Order: sequence, then C-alpha cells, then structure tokens
Amino acid sequence: IGHQSVEVLGHRYPRDDFTNVTPKILAKVGRNLHNQPYHPLWLIKERIKAHFYSNYIGPGGNPLFSVHDNLSPVVTVEQNFDSLLIPPDHSSRKQGDNYYLNRNMMLRAHTSAHQAELVRSGLDAFLLAGDVYRRDEIDASHYPVFHQMEGVRLFTNHQLFSKVHNGEDLSLFERGGRRTPQKQETHSLEAVKLVEFDLKQTLTRLVSYLFGADVEVRWVDCYFPFTHPSFELEVRFQGNWMEVLGCGVMEQELLNSVGAQNKLGWAFGLGLERLAMVLYSIPDIRLFWSEDERFLKQFRVQDIHQPVCFQALSKYPPLHNDISFWLPDTKDSEESFTENDFYELVRSIGGDLVEKVTLIDDFTHPKTGRRSRCYRIVYRHMERTLTQEEVRLVHQEIERMAEAELGVQGRY
Ligand code: PHE
Repeated sequence: IGHQSVEVLGHRYPRDDFTNVTPKILAKVGRNLHNQPYHPLWLIKERIKAHFYSNYIGPGGNPLFSVHDNLSPVVTVEQNFDSLLIPPDHSSRKQGDNYYLNRNMMLRAHTSAHQAELVRSGLDAFLLAGDVYRRDEIDASHYPVFHQMEGVRLFTNHQLFSKVHNGEDLSLFERGGRRTPQKQETHSLEAVKLVEFDLKQTLTRLVSYLFGADVEVRWVDCYFPFTHPSFELEVRFQGNWMEVLGCGVMEQELLNSVGAQNKLGWAFGLGLERLAMVLYSIPDIRLFWSEDERFLKQFRVQDIHQPVCFQALSKYPPLHNDISFWLPDTKDSEESFTENDFYELVRSIGGDLVEKVTLIDDFTHPKTGRRSRCYRIVYRHMERTLTQEEVRLVHQEIERMAEAELGVQGRY
C-alpha cells in the first residue's frame, strides 16, 4: 500500500506521475511550529493577533479580524492555484517548485490558497497562519517548509466611503473602465485609492508595532495574479532591504467567484520566519526546527510583548556529568519524588550553566524493589569554556542538595 499511496495526517492519497513529496518533508507536516506555545513563530503570531485584536474593533465591540491557524496544509491544486486565477500553464505550478501528493492534491505553497474558501464562507476580515511548502535550496534563509500569515479585509460601498465627505455619491465600481497600473478595469479610482491607503496603513502600523517606530520601510511595486495593484514591503535590516510581505488589492474576479461581488478587498501574505529572523536576530532558518532547549528557552517570556534578546547558541564545548540516586520509599506517599522538583533543584543551583538534563536510567532492584534513577546533566556556558573544576563544584552541590531536599540517597 505504501508504494501506491502517500499518507498525510491520517489520509491516504493515491500516487501518480505528479507525486513528488518526500518522507523528509512529510515528517514536517503536523509539527505546526506556529501553534507551539512559546516557539518564536508562535510568539510572532500571537503578537500580530494581539495587535489586530486591540486596534481593529468591529461595530459591536468585537475583534474585527477572526484568526484561523488550524487549516490543513493539504489542499487541492484548485485551491492553491486556480482559485487565485493562476493560469494553467503558469510557471509557479512547476513540479520543480512544489510538493504534489498527486495531480489533484498538494502541500500548500502559500496561505493564499485559503482566501477564496474563507471569503466564500462569509468572512469579511480574517488572519490565517499556517505552514507552507516549496521546493527550494537549503541555506541560511531558505528552507522547504516555512510559515506565513495571510490577512484579508473586504469593504462594502458604505464601509469604504462613509467617512468621506459626500461619500454617498461615490461608488466602488465603474463601467467601461480600463485596467491601468493603478487599478483594475471594474474598480473606481477613488475606491482603489482608499483600499490601497488602508492596506498600506494597516501594514505600516503592524511593522512599526513589531519593530519599533523608527524601522525603515519601503513599498515596491510588483505582480501577483490575484491582486492588482500589487506591492511588496521591504524592511531595512543590517544595511540591506529585506522583503517581508506581498500584498495588493484583490482581483475582483476572485471576489465575484465566491459571492462577494458587492465588495472590494485587500490581501497580504507575510513570512513569519523572515519577521522572526529580523526581530530576534536569528541567523539561520534551520534553528526554527531546533528542539534544543538553549534555543527554545529564550522565547519563554512572561508577556508576549516583552522584548526577546536572542543569544546565538554557544560554540563552547559542553561537559557532562551523571548523577544517580535511590528514590525515597514510596510507602508513605506515592508522590514522594517528582522529577520536576529535581529539575528545579538543578536549575536553581546550576543556573545558566546547565544546558540540559536527561533521564538516562531508571532501575528497580529485583530483590529489594528499590528504585534508582540516573540523570545526565550537560553543562555549557554561553560565553566561555567551563573548567572541569567549576563544573565539579556545582555538580557536588547538586548531589548534596538532592539528598538534603528530595530525600533521595546518593549513589555517588
Ligand atoms: N501568496 C503570496 C506569496 O506567497 C503573497 C501574497 C498574499 C500576495 C496575498 C498578495 C496577496 O508570495
């Protein structure tokens, strides 16, 4: 069966001549880094949500934008391309650039794949975060799986013009118009200019909120098949301009095809890794997949608005030392020894010298029934090489305190 079909998230898809997903890529599907609490991508997602929740309030006092972060990355080719007016022969459909499950299904290449279905379901303003997949080289800033956040906002005639003096006389649409660099054929210039202004203002505010008011940004004209006009926003980072998002005024044909023919809209798609790399000075995109505590623990902030000062992982060598002890008898109380108490004790004595603690042996004596545990403590300093002697002193103190505080009996 495994040869004839591909299994993803519990579903099977028959293989055909388009199938090109690899086991390595499939192993990433379902990791959902953007939903992992305190992962840097989650942290950025939460900050963006908080920004939109507090700055864009609906008429009833409710948040204007709904947030979606659980849509499956397995989409139809129709969703990823056709629903966005991407022509059948467009180069972005290449097998060389995408991960296909078969001719009909693929791993989404962008979160825009969900624009049409969410508008069709009746939403006027939403944010959508998810993992996206593109075949690409692997280097410091490219990885075949990354994360995007999509934003869409639609406007009725009333919503767009009600704040404009004599706005009732204005109209979203015009007949017999022409497509120009500024606008689509069916749009009125005044409507497009207001939508474009709202789009750019929304994104400029978001970026200043994330990076601080003095961040330098610039708008660059570009092309997407599903927006016109289209723009990219670039942020100045370490002397270079870096593209962080694409956006534009949604193609009316797209909105018409999903029942929103009386509205105009804007859409944007931003790269969460790009933002996180700039914001936290993370040097390599592969770090986002790290399960290394030294990486992850730096993002465990009390408050999502608290600044994170990311420190590159130490290049200094680790030293490890094992500790084994007999657990206290469990006769009196079941919970006489808990692992987290031990971890806390290690942390309180070893502080930042301790990189990792792992259980390496859990042994029950066959005759006496006594249990013993052995943990490996990895010591490493961020800024210098530790000496055997200083590690020995810390380790001995941990041994001593474990006996004193946790009722264990050392086998030192
Ligand atoms: N989907 C586009 C990309 O991945 C970004 C985008 C989203 C552009 C929405 C316009 C509107 O590059």
